Amino acid sequence: MEVERVQAIVSSSLAKDNIPLEFVRPEDEQPAITTFHGLIPDIPVIDFNHPDQDHIIHLIANASRDWGIFQVVNHGIPFHLIQKLQQVGKEFFDLPQEEKEVYAKPPGALTLEGYGSKIGKDVNGKKNWADHLFHKIWPASCINHQFWPKNPPSYRPVNEEYAQEVRKVVDKLFEWLSMGLGLEADVLKQGVGGEEIEYLMKINYYPPCPRPDLTLGVTSHTDLSAMTVLVPNEVPGLQVFKDGHWIDAKYIPGALIIHIGDQIEILSNGKYKAVLHRTTVDKEKTRMSWPVFLEPPGEFVVGPLPQLLDPQIPPKYKPKKFKDYSYCKFHKLPQ
Ligand code: OGA
Ligand code: NI
Repeated sequence: MEVERVQAIVSSSLAKDNIPLEFVRPEDEQPAITTFHGLIPDIPVIDFNHPDQDHIIHLIANASRDWGIFQVVNHGIPFHLIQKLQQVGKEFFDLPQEEKEVYAKPPGALTLEGYGSKIGKDVNGKKNWADHLFHKIWPASCINHQFWPKNPPSYRPVNEEYAQEVRKVVDKLFEWLSMGLGLEADVLKQGVGGEEIEYLMKINYYPPCPRPDLTLGVTSHTDLSAMTVLVPNEVPGLQVFKDGHWIDAKYIPGALIIHIGDQIEILSNGKYKAVLHRTTVDKEKTRMSWPVFLEPPGEFVVGPLPQLLDPQIPPKYKPKKFKDYSYCKFHKLPQ
């Protein structure tokens, strides 16, 4: 395999105090220079067990408008299942390199699915300090088991169970996000594909890095998805851009981190904001995360909801097939 995985670079590295130049970000991106350390509020934390549903809706709507991101506690996914999801993912990345390469994303493939080290081209030729694995987990008709690790053997049942649990949380989120816009509960889900919404699992693997001050795991972006539901491990690293500052997300054991993605921003005509975020890496520890991207089918057209428009509020976005939107974003073309 020609491609150098970051994990392989780290384990074979001669330079223990330095990193290859292609990982060194320009100064205006370096975390040591650009991370904010002053007093700033934390990303909102929302308790799904709160007895007053209207209160939850209010918090979700405010967080999605002001931040584009929030953490959810008491979401109903058992903590031991989250731990198992983390364990089987870690076991996959702990396999020998050749075993992981069996799942490598085929060169030139149209789908993102598979094991790999980078998506998209960086204009300045820089690389991310991360490897990843992508595979769809729902609906059944879009799953390709070729990209699901066979080792450990529990990888598959654990991911199947997680898919079922995460769907329940996602349905609730769509309902409450819709109601937060004053719409019927099913509007947002239907607006991004209804039962055809595709659940794309990604595992991010960020190996320890001798110079975490200079590099990034993933660079600044908003998610292409409608919404992203992310489980992190205990090593902090997610940062969000808020009021002109890059701030650290706090790790809350067992919490889900919900990102509003581009498609909900579009549907809501900008009332909800896709969050700009990035990740830093750690000097000693491996950071991992498990985002599930909720995406419309490729042919599905997403545009601002007519219910939210009137002569005073014109559409801010063009309706577009999701596959065309993705193509433009991936190739950095105007939408
Ligand atoms: C991503 C991403 C954040 C994280 O993969 O799109 O933003 O915490 N990951 O790893
Ligand atoms: Ni992201």
